[in-house]
Amino acid sequence: MAGFHEEQDLGQVYDAKLIVRLLGYARPHARALAGCVVLLMAFAGLALLQPYLIKTAIDEIMTPAALADAAGKAALGAKLWPLAALYAVTVVIGAVIEYAQGVWLQSTGQAIVARIRQDVFDHLQTLSLSFFDANPVGRLVTRVTNDVEALNEMYTSVLVNLFKDVFYIGGAMIIMFSMNWRLAAVSCVAIPLVAAAAAFFQKLSRAAWREVRLKIARLNATLSENFSGMRVVQIFAREAKQSAEFRAINDDHFRASMHQLRVYAVFRPLLELLSTAALVGVIWYGGHQVLAGVIGFGTLYAFTSYNRNLYEPINAVAEKYNILQSALASAERIFQLLATPSAVQDKPAPAVPEARVEVRVAGEPMPSTPAIEFRDVWFAYAEEHWVLKGVSFRVTPGQTVAFVGATGAGKSTIMSLVARYYDVQKGQVLVDGVDVRDWPQAALRRRVGTVMQDVFLFAGDVAGNVSLSDPAISREAVERAAVLVGADAFIRRLPNGYDEPVVERGMTLSAGQRQLISFARALAYDPAILVLDEATASIDSETEAALQQAMKTVAADRTTLIVAHRLSTIQDADCIFVMHKGEIREHGRHSELLAQRGLYQRLWQLQFEGTGPLTEAHQ
Ligand SMILES: Nc1ncnc2c1ncn2[C@@H]1O[C@H](COP(=O)(O)OP(=O)(O)OP(=O)(O)O)[C@@H](O)[C@H]1O
Ligand SMILES: [Mg+2]
Repeated sequence: MAGFHEEQDLGQVYDAKLIVRLLGYARPHARALAGCVVLLMAFAGLALLQPYLIKTAIDEIMTPAALADAAGKAALGAKLWPLAALYAVTVVIGAVIEYAQGVWLQSTGQAIVARIRQDVFDHLQTLSLSFFDANPVGRLVTRVTNDVEALNEMYTSVLVNLFKDVFYIGGAMIIMFSMNWRLAAVSCVAIPLVAAAAAFFQKLSRAAWREVRLKIARLNATLSENFSGMRVVQIFAREAKQSAEFRAINDDHFRASMHQLRVYAVFRPLLELLSTAALVGVIWYGGHQVLAGVIGFGTLYAFTSYNRNLYEPINAVAEKYNILQSALASAERIFQLLATPSAVQDKPAPAVPEARVEVRVAGEPMPSTPAIEFRDVWFAYAEEHWVLKGVSFRVTPGQTVAFVGATGAGKSTIMSLVARYYDVQKGQVLVDGVDVRDWPQAALRRRVGTVMQDVFLFAGDVAGNVSLSDPAISREAVERAAVLVGADAFIRRLPNGYDEPVVERGMTLSAGQRQLISFARALAYDPAILVLDEATASIDSETEAALQQAMKTVAADRTTLIVAHRLSTIQDADCIFVMHKGEIREHGRHSELLAQRGLYQRLWQLQFEGTGPLTEAHQ
């Protein structure tokens, strides 16, 4: 599967389809958004009204004639206060509207992106493990947080505020041109310049912005890797080295941010300069017009006021275009992720009847088809690097079989193919005589309980980690499973017993305790097939001996696959498969294999005559 990378520059991202899809997410909130548009337009209307009120006060009330006349002056106060009151009302209403639309708009935007975030998360869960092999966690986290947040910006500041800005610009133009078209023309002279400058700088800043995002993604990936690998970092005293590496990435981020800042630092004053030039023109030309008696002083005031506020929305529109672009880039990455199909998928009509999974009743005779069968399986994680080369074997229901062999021989790989965590390239894997690709995944994974080599515990409590918070698994079932694997004793010794909190990855428990919990987890589901990959590697010999005794009962009516390095633990297996470089080299019972004097016998000797571990290099 192709890797899915944050760092990719997706280039030109404008795409009507993307916008349509983004609007699709906004549709359930169409009313709220329309309401916000109306509120914002009302707000812009009030902002347009305010200079006009002052103009009216100057031109209609404080006329030279009224000022010259003493009686007129007295009447002015009475005429002015309704205007002043109206002005105050527009300010108060404006403030209320601003508050209401701010809250409404932000909550709508958050609701939309929460939905997208959920969709991304839900989709990620359906993806097969090969996807997660190719995509580092830090990047995926960035995807679910930063990219989704960029969309929020789009919904809140672009979708709705754009209307306000355009409305304000249009309204101001209409008012200015209807007051005095010549002066309006002077006012607008710098608009094309500002628009051109804004467009140019937005382009620069977009590039700068994208650079900053790339650095953030890298920063996040590095952080998550370093924190999860903190033990290794400290064990090998790599702090200085890691710190230097981080400093390089951090510096990169700093430089990118500074570059972005510089672009803005130039643009802001330039915009100010251009709009002030227009203002100077208005004062110069308008002043002459006032002196010539063509327009009132109030009109000049209104013009200077509109002029000041005209250039801000023009810049804002350009800025919004920029936000839109980056949101589309994020949207493209998100939708690309949502469109990534799982490499492992259920068939439209899976062949295995669900009922077949449920019919197994204790004591009932086992069906005669093999529980597990590999037919000439070839498998590679990455193209053509064969990890399994023509593996074939059968396991009869109820049998316990073991896989042994050197590190990297492919044992864990076989285990993950049984419950179809990956699809094979050639050959077939059959469970209960049915190709795993024909099984519904959910049913298959209920059928096959797996204890993996890498134990993972979730944040929560001990009981929750056994039942995985599945309501179908009662507390009794949890405790029964724990007793069976011998975990009950240590769990009860914990201060809160089964309710003892477990931190992320379960680091407060010992490795053996974690293994026992994950063992209990697999048994709690009462699976018909049990896959144990080094399930007892970290458990002390005494506990293991007890566990093995228990396993005899557990395995009695179950098919069990065991991977073990300690050969002493699998001597009683019905069949032992000896893996070497992706192939099964030998198979048979313990005594038969010893008699063959082959690989198995050498492994046995190495373990019991103390010659260190066996690696590929030995063979
Ligand atoms: N997720 C993965 N992506 C790519 N290659 C992998 C992956 N997992 C394992 N491999 C490769 O597949 C080969 C077999 O790995 P596997 O985990 O099956 O070995 P193993 O027999 O279980 O070894 P061990 O005894 O150390 O657990 C190894 O060469 C390994 O590098
Ligand atoms: Mg393994």
